[in-house]
Amino acid sequence: MKSPAALKQIFDDYIATNKFEQTPVALYEPINYIFSLGGKRLRPLLLLMGYNLFGERVAEALPAAFAIEIFHNFSLLHDDIMDEAPLRRGKPSVHVKYNVNTGILSGDVMLIYAYQYLARLSALPRYAKIIELFNQLAIDVCEGQQYDMNFEAEEKVALSTYLKMIELKTAALIGGALGMGAVIGGASEKDMEQLMQFGRNIGIAFQIQDDILDTFGDPEKFGKKVGGDIVQNKKTFLFLKALEQADSTTQAELLSLYEVKKEDNTQKISVVKGIFEDLKVDVMAAKAKDEYLAKAFTALALVGVKEERKQYLRETAHILMNREL
Ligand code: IPE
Ligand code: IPE
Ligand code: MG
Ligand code: MG
Ligand code: MG
Repeated sequence: MKSPAALKQIFDDYIATNKFEQTPVALYEPINYIFSLGGKRLRPLLLLMGYNLFGERVAEALPAAFAIEIFHNFSLLHDDIMDEAPLRRGKPSVHVKYNVNTGILSGDVMLIYAYQYLARLSALPRYAKIIELFNQLAIDVCEGQQYDMNFEAEEKVALSTYLKMIELKTAALIGGALGMGAVIGGASEKDMEQLMQFGRNIGIAFQIQDDILDTFGDPEKFGKKVGGDIVQNKKTFLFLKALEQADSTTQAELLSLYEVKKEDNTQKISVVKGIFEDLKVDVMAAKAKDEYLAKAFTALALVGVKEERKQYLRETAHILMNREL
């Protein structure tokens, strides 16, 4: 069994030997650009870790790990257009460095390449299951992204509705990656399900942390524009919790701040951040993260492999909960 660091190295080497060197350059260069900026490569790592719980021939799972990372990066290209986000991984987003059409089309072709890498697994006995998991997570992400956008224009959203939205837009991909790894490794249906349940709960906590960092992160480390969610009127955990906790005056103030999108947002960001701090919603978000982490560990405990084999997954989950980027 390999350590997360060893698996990450194997994956990084695989990406480095699978560059997009085709023409037209204008279509493929942005793909190499977004991969050159790295990112945590969390989803392929989890796929390989899920695989490695059951199987030892890691190379077998690499095309699926790459497919997952290509899909994730495709979703970021389109997400940054949708969220009007100027920065990604500390550098200009693809649609800013190139243009919006490039962001759309390079993203589209990435989605197809994700399937092309998956097709390398077509000789596996459970190929159909792998495709089924991938299709489902991809559909979930699109549905979650639509809810996320719908909610920008909605005044109030229930916290439970928000949680369903992030389960689709973020947690499905993380859970799906683990499920795919498990299937390729030869796990039983039951073990695959429990591992996916672990991943979905980690994924929910991961997105809550993303919401926290979007407002409270260190701009030097975070790599995205801090305050972007506030600018876009995103119905994040912090905003919805603040509405729930605020007195009627502060509620009205928050709602009026989120009525329109303005050109100059410096004032809006600092006022909203101040309200979040006064109401201590960051502390409440941290508590919610812990609850989902606990649920994740309950599911992991039910996966039928020796406890010591699960230690790497537990460690990785803890690291993610306290990430700064
Ligand atoms: C960003 O994902 C999108 C979310 C679901 C929050 P990551 O935070 O994993 O981004 P990279 O790949 O490490 O840049
Ligand atoms: C993450 O949502 C979901 C997807 C990218 C599919 P965000 O919009 O919060 O992600 P970031 O913060 O831009 O990475
Ligand atoms: Mg975004
Ligand atoms: Mg988004
Ligand atoms: Mg975000």
